[in-house]
Amino acid sequence: MNKTFVVYESKYGATKQTAKNIAMILGPAEYCTTKEWKKEYENCQSIIIGTSIYNEQVNQEIYGFVEKNKNWLKNSKVYLFCVCLMDQGGEKYLKPLEDILGKCVVSKKSFGGRIELNKLDTKDFWALKKFSQTYGFEFKNIDIYNIREVINYGIAIKEERDFQVEMPYEELKMYVEQFLLEHSSCTLCSGYENSVRATPVDYTYKESNMYVLSEGGIKFTNLLFNEQVSLAVYEVFTGYNNLAGMQITGRADIVENESEEYKLFLKLKEINIDKLPAPLHLIKIRIEKIEFLWFKFKNMGYGIKQYFEF
Ligand SMILES: Cc1cc2nc3c(=O)[nH]c(=O)nc-3n(C[C@H](O)[C@H](O)[C@H](O)COP(=O)(O)O)c2cc1C
Repeated sequence: MNKTFVVYESKYGATKQTAKNIAMILGPAEYCTTKEWKKEYENCQSIIIGTSIYNEQVNQEIYGFVEKNKNWLKNSKVYLFCVCLMDQGGEKYLKPLEDILGKCVVSKKSFGGRIELNKLDTKDFWALKKFSQTYGFEFKNIDIYNIREVINYGIAIKEERDFQVEMPYEELKMYVEQFLLEHSSCTLCSGYENSVRATPVDYTYKESNMYVLSEGGIKFTNLLFNEQVSLAVYEVFTGYNNLAGMQITGRADIVENESEEYKLFLKLKEINIDKLPAPLHLIKIRIEKIEFLWFKFKNMGYGIKQYFEF
């Protein structure tokens, strides 16, 4: 089964939030509790198991799930995480699960959680009071949930999970350039502070650069501050059997209108500078990295997603 699953148990929501965030980054991925788990999910290639920590222990449902499913889990890639207060070194809490699963555990991670005293039930309220005295921390609301850490773990799992057979550099370069030359429209994304902008534009590809001519507009309010851009060039989606698209990372320069490069480009596009009603601005995007998803790679025996850097 290709789908990835995130199984979790959470009492007050921090572990659930973590499971959901990781599933969103990993997509296609399902997140569910041990009760929601279905037999048909078994034998999936990758599974992430998340537990909250109470009284220095992993959740008992999670422990039971791992014990019950250990035989097929051992043939999968398993990623473990816990949510607790001892985020530094809290991975020790995951040891009982790792002891059952052994080598199929690819990685373990502990995240900081939350305490909202007014939400705790009476039993947890007093248990936590005792716990805080034992470990010498203040008995008060705590929030050490760090979304950046969760995102980083999601990205690390994704990279590990999606590792694919690489196409040789020169061959990939040929397909990359062919795709860029066969297309001429893209979405140019620029950003600065709270301003983000996706602009549909026409481009011309030439020697690892994408050139965009523009009359002007809001995108320049970002580009003047931040040269970092992302672009998408893609086929209209009609099904998984024709997937084709590129996510491009690059840096944008605004080419001086007086420069030779500007004049040559307009000549190439057969535009007469003297006849322009208003000046056109030339954006030159130096491509740094391309993530290229193309269904044809699979038929050639390579991973469907290839990474290319000029
Ligand atoms: C009664 C109680 C006991 C706890 N025991 C521990 C503990 O042993 N170690 C720890 O690091 N965190 C402990 N915590 C903190 C929880 O792991 C943290 O609040 C986490 O965010 C809970 O996850 P949840 O919101 O998904 O239920 C405890 C919290 C409570 C209320």
